[in-house]
Amino acid sequence: MRDVAVIGVGMIKWGERWESSLRDLFVEAALAALDDCGLDRVDALYVGSMSPGLFTGQEHIGALFADYLGLAHLPATRVESACASGGLAFRQAFLEVSSGLSEIVLAAGVEKMTDVDGAEATYVLSTAADQEYESFHGITFPGLYALIARDYMHRYGLTREQLAAVAIKNHAHGSHNPFAQFPRKIDLETVLNSPMVADPLRLMDCSPITDGAAAVVLCPLERARELGKKKPVKVLGSGQASDTMALHHREDFCYFRSTAEAAKRAFEMAKIERERVDFLEVHDCFTIAEICVLESLGFFERGKAGSAAQEGITALDGKLPVNPSGGLKSKGHPVGATGVAQIVELVHQLRGEAGERQVKGAKVGLAQNMGGTGASSVVHILEGC
Ligand code: COA
Repeated sequence: MRDVAVIGVGMIKWGERWESSLRDLFVEAALAALDDCGLDRVDALYVGSMSPGLFTGQEHIGALFADYLGLAHLPATRVESACASGGLAFRQAFLEVSSGLSEIVLAAGVEKMTDVDGAEATYVLSTAADQEYESFHGITFPGLYALIARDYMHRYGLTREQLAAVAIKNHAHGSHNPFAQFPRKIDLETVLNSPMVADPLRLMDCSPITDGAAAVVLCPLERARELGKKKPVKVLGSGQASDTMALHHREDFCYFRSTAEAAKRAFEMAKIERERVDFLEVHDCFTIAEICVLESLGFFERGKAGSAAQEGITALDGKLPVNPSGGLKSKGHPVGATGVAQIVELVHQLRGEAGERQVKGAKVGLAQNMGGTGASSVVHILEGC
């Protein structure tokens, strides 16, 4: 395997994008990534998308997107792993370059979720849970994460205020992100007074329904300076793992085994210890998810990540900044695009171009992206060159 670098990144404004179709969102992000590295061609395309068919009626998006990008005839592949589709698309692109099969590969993620109403979006998302044991019986993702939150509160004494601290922090970070869907600061009162979605999770504990896309360009590290225009960012480690689909089949609701295993593999490949990681982008689809993920990744002891948010340890100016982009909570969560956008944020941070949300002295960043309640997870570790 050869070393791989990210040489171009493209992010677009996320939110309710009525004026743009699914393919428009992809093309806008892909052109931004190509422009960022000054290239007009790639050798292959991977695109992560969870459910374009149910959200918009459009399947077969690999070939369609290559064509609309002006690059028909490319090997173009759609990758699906629920909300981890984007992270997995990035991993497939990494593997293709690393293996020597291709020189320049575009990895993108896209989802257009607002063309259906809220109830329909909830149904489409629920197809990523276990149909026979979970969705058929009426449980939704807010409901599943509410079960996790209740279990965590019971076992570790997590308070409602500590859960809220995750949302307040991520909205504060997102207020510096021009691409975020909800770039506004919120306070404790806003969270505690927001409508109940699934007890104990309120509206402000949930990631929103979002239209969006993101894209990155990868090439061999040894050609990164010749092919790109900006400082390359090296992919140090990549890990993927899975777990039981149904929550009730797990020994422990609050520990995402797939995340722990994916992280173990990524750190083994990277050959570094956790102390070297300066900041993280993690999958905060609900406030409780950020807490459980940080513990599953091994950055906090069990039961401690909630108080870490309240004490400012995971804030931009804290000891270990988490979700400087605003995370899924503030930036938005167009499910298939999220994992790629995490990589975009890592690259902006590691190049030192994140503006007001810059993590000072950031050299190594970690991205964790997961599907459903963690039935699939992908972890990547990147280093600025
Ligand atoms: N965070 C902050 N504000 C939000 C928000 C969110 N997650 N979701 C909606 N809003 C805002 C809207 O902009 C709107 O504000 P306005 O009245 O000023 O225009 C208001 O809150 C109500 O929005 P609406 O779209 O009517 O909300 P909803 O009740 O239809 O949906 C949720 C809210 C939480 C149910 C929905 O966003 C959701 O299902 N989120 C979870 C998505 C999910 O499960 N993803 C997969 C994770 S595994």
